Amino acid sequence: MKTLTFRNNDQMPAIGLGTWKAPEGEGYKALREAIRLGYRHIDCAHLYMNEKELGRALHDAMAEGDVSRKDLWITSKLWNNSHKKHQVKPALETTLADLQLDYIDLYLIHWPVVIKDDVVFPSGVEDLVSLDEVPLEETWAAMEDLADEGLARHIGVSNFSVKRLEQISKNARIKPEANQVEGHPYLQQNDLLDYCKANGIAVTHYSPFGSKDRPEHFKMGDEPELLEIPEIIALAEKHDCSPAQIILAWAVGRGASAIPKSVNPVRLKQNLEAYKIELSAQEIEDLKKVDKNYRFIVGKFWAVEGSPYTLEGLWG
Ligand code: A2P
Repeated sequence: MKTLTFRNNDQMPAIGLGTWKAPEGEGYKALREAIRLGYRHIDCAHLYMNEKELGRALHDAMAEGDVSRKDLWITSKLWNNSHKKHQVKPALETTLADLQLDYIDLYLIHWPVVIKDDVVFPSGVEDLVSLDEVPLEETWAAMEDLADEGLARHIGVSNFSVKRLEQISKNARIKPEANQVEGHPYLQQNDLLDYCKANGIAVTHYSPFGSKDRPEHFKMGDEPELLEIPEIIALAEKHDCSPAQIILAWAVGRGASAIPKSVNPVRLKQNLEAYKIELSAQEIEDLKKVDKNYRFIVGKFWAVEGSPYTLEGLWG
């Protein structure tokens, strides 16, 4: 497996398993199968509400000798209702207990957005809290403490723009080591990727296939189909593989990592094996013209009317 190298030389496998939307009852089976197939990078989050089930799978996989802890790279994320200084460590402790682990390889701030303590997902503007009240610098300082304590081997962020990365990096003792963002040929974010590479920040692409299986109320109408982009299909024919594999090979070829979600054994295997497909620098360059700056995960749930958050502020 190709890897992304962190500042201390730790290696994160380039293709990982996405676990968002793994339905209850299927997450266990999918993760056991994924580990048997050779997945070593597993992407989790408290918000996905399946960490307990995944924790049982991790426990059993290790107990039955399928894998050892040191060979796994497990990522999880701090949810928006736990950004205050005193909430960050307990949030990670909950995740660690759920996943049955004593450290996490990479812990990320899930969004640069704060919601009220007792809210899981906002139903209106009254559930949102401004960053003036709980600044990202406060949350980041608490993340640094987790790294100091060894509870998180690495710390980073998700859904951060260059502006937000610069904001928290400015006075950071430990600069962010990773930024997980939506990424696929329709949302290439080349400037963000270049900034991250120049600053030693590993980029992971979520929703590489556009997360078609997410709930309808999160979707915009008339979403494009990434697996049907003609240029991707042409490359799939040329490299004798599937369009999904071309998207993953593109992500890895440009120096990012990708976390496709699947609960299907055939697709799990196909996705993992995509790392073997090498796209040339020219093929990656040619795909730049496909970019539409199109987001599937728009973040409009944070930018409701009257909210302290705007889409421009989030992504701009
Ligand atoms: P399934 O879980 O049944 O395999 P994303 O990673 O962008 O969130 O997309 C996940 C969606 O893509 C799921 O519906 C998943 O279905 C599907 N999927 C995963 N791998 C592939 C693949 N290799 N080819 C086509 N669809 C895939």
